[in-house]
Amino acid sequence: MRGAMKMKIGIDKIGFFTPHLYVDMAKLAQARNEDPNKYLIGIGQNKMAVIPPTQDAVTLAANAAAKVLTVEDKEAIDLVIVATESGVDNSKSTAAYVSELLGLSHEIRTIELKQACYAATAGLQLAKGHIALAPDKKALVIGSDIARYGLKTPGEPTQGGGAVAMLVSKDPKLVTLEAESAYYAKDVMDFWRPLSQTEAKVDGKFSANIYLEFFEKVYQDYLAKTGLKLTDFSALLFHLPYTKQGLKGLRKALEGVDPTVASHYYNEFEASRKYNMATGNLYTGSLYLSLLSLLENTDTLKAGDRLGLFSYGSGAQGEFFSGRLQPNYKEALTYQTSEMLEMRAEVSVAEYEQIFSAILTDDHDRKLDISKDPAQFVLAGIKDFKRQYLKK
Ligand code: CAA
Repeated sequence: MRGAMKMKIGIDKIGFFTPHLYVDMAKLAQARNEDPNKYLIGIGQNKMAVIPPTQDAVTLAANAAAKVLTVEDKEAIDLVIVATESGVDNSKSTAAYVSELLGLSHEIRTIELKQACYAATAGLQLAKGHIALAPDKKALVIGSDIARYGLKTPGEPTQGGGAVAMLVSKDPKLVTLEAESAYYAKDVMDFWRPLSQTEAKVDGKFSANIYLEFFEKVYQDYLAKTGLKLTDFSALLFHLPYTKQGLKGLRKALEGVDPTVASHYYNEFEASRKYNMATGNLYTGSLYLSLLSLLENTDTLKAGDRLGLFSYGSGAQGEFFSGRLQPNYKEALTYQTSEMLEMRAEVSVAEYEQIFSAILTDDHDRKLDISKDPAQFVLAGIKDFKRQYLKK
């Protein structure tokens, strides 16, 4: 038992995937008769991922995991958790599809988790418990989503999509998860998606306020539980439905703090929002894309530094927890993200609207043109209510 308590468990690898298309936020603002600075500064987004019909929560997840998993990892994985709020089936889990596409062992547990944008954090904590009991195994935790609010809605500039895959193991190369955590849940109607709807319903301003309320609650609870203070953290990370929302959370944490001290946290925040600004909301994956963004873009954080992470899922659930950077964490990163984001093709606002409206429904057999989608895993169509996935 003492061994289990001392065991270091956490995130060994992080893989990120977003499709090959984006729309420019300044051009979207112009098309919506808004000042571009509202989207660029007020919302804090400069590009938004555009998700072709050939990608869904399954293929996004498989594409993210395939970026980092080795043959040895695949042999050691015996638990796959996919967190999503844009799953493709009311019964079969996204994880069942993903595990097969990745060629994982069949002697595994596969499940899907849902609690809005929070569920990947629940997955991470469950995976941590699993590894404590089975130290020689590895768990794959993926947050995979497409954020959709609808064309010409206030939520439109906060859409996006993609997946973040995390390999959880003992002696992880990136971040160990610390024992303490503070969490809080309450039934709130700030954001939801009825079963019949392909776009989310949201009470925008209310959701933004509830997010901050939950942050203050779990952050203060965490400090009270652990006796830690702000300066025990080297950076604070946030769920980023749009990057301005995280900035508002950080401002709350820095109220009354000496400006020189505060500027350090603002600098790390800039590193942590770089990839999210260019992608948009990933729902379940957003906090972890922000973590990847921080790890790849910070030039000040070092081994042993403590990160504080705020996870939020509407409906609502909040959790504040922490992790410590591992020695040589920089060497364990793949640095593929900037290139992937830069290689994307820009689509016009008219093309984005057309792609947005081409969302696949399961009602009819349909064959999709996969020739233009360069991703490894694609959705080729629907036949007899069965989704047809392909590995290229
Ligand atoms: N230059 C600079 N800033 C400008 C500007 C300009 N020219 N024009 C406006 N702004 C600022 C505004 O002052 C405002 O800033 P503050 O929030 O700091 O006050 C910001 O731009 C946005 O302007 P509005 O509030 O007028 O924008 P809006 O009413 O059109 O909608 C929104 C904003 C409510 C976030 C909407 O996009 C939305 O509903 N999004 C979806 C909901 C969401 O993401 N909620 C987040 C919390 S819930 C969550 O986290 C779970 C999840 O993932 C969904």
